[in-house]
Amino acid sequence: MNSMFGISWKTNILKSDLLLGMTDLHAHLLPGVDDGIQTWDEAQRAVDWLYALGTRRVYLTPHVMEELGNTAASLRERFDEWQARISGPMHFRLAAEYMLDNGFARQRKEGLLTLDERHLLVETSYMAPPMDLEGILYDLQTDGYELILAHPERYMYMDDEQYDRLRDCGIQFQLNLMSLAGTYGRLPQMKATRLLDAGAYCYVGSDFHRQEAYASSLQRLYFNKRRHDALVRLFINTQRLWTGDGRYTLYNERINAD
Ligand SMILES: [Fe+2]
Repeated sequence: MNSMFGISWKTNILKSDLLLGMTDLHAHLLPGVDDGIQTWDEAQRAVDWLYALGTRRVYLTPHVMEELGNTAASLRERFDEWQARISGPMHFRLAAEYMLDNGFARQRKEGLLTLDERHLLVETSYMAPPMDLEGILYDLQTDGYELILAHPERYMYMDDEQYDRLRDCGIQFQLNLMSLAGTYGRLPQMKATRLLDAGAYCYVGSDFHRQEAYASSLQRLYFNKRRHDALVRLFINTQRLWTGDGRYTLYNERINAD
């Protein structure tokens, strides 16, 4: 028996092996471009803290939505600055989290920031889907994109039938760790638990905006052995996306790998 689950068979994520060597698919660390981190100092502090927790690779995924004015070009410029200013051994790649809103068609024309040339992280409003959501997704897939839907558990309008339909269409789901802790409320927490138990997720991310919120979420995140094992799969998939060749290492090997 794994001692980590010892007497109660429930463990806190900070006492588990999951975060050691983590590849984070979703983070708002690039400062001053969205509602995430705002200053370079705050960014450096967050990076150092995440590294101490075990994170080793982070996809920076700033929001791209109509009201923000970010573009692939402006974010690339900001990322050049990031690489010059942020120090330490953490690995970073620039991607984005695309809101499927009225400005998306123009972003697409100008070129999209993907995770690895193919995989694209997308979101919708929490309250209502864009008109013809499935048509937009199908159209992107036809263009060769592999679609990752950010935090499906947070969309109030989505029901089980729609989750199933999206998965049948080959849309991959990314879990926000904070959803499991109840940070976004009871409904997203219940949906996240159900989708995790159903094996519906492929990837995992922090959706980091503020260190305090993430830290207190992690402190409240407990799971049993079965859910731990379900989460392991997501951490492995996320690392495989980064390496691009199916390679992964686990736990302390992961942390020592680079
Ligand atoms: Fe996000």
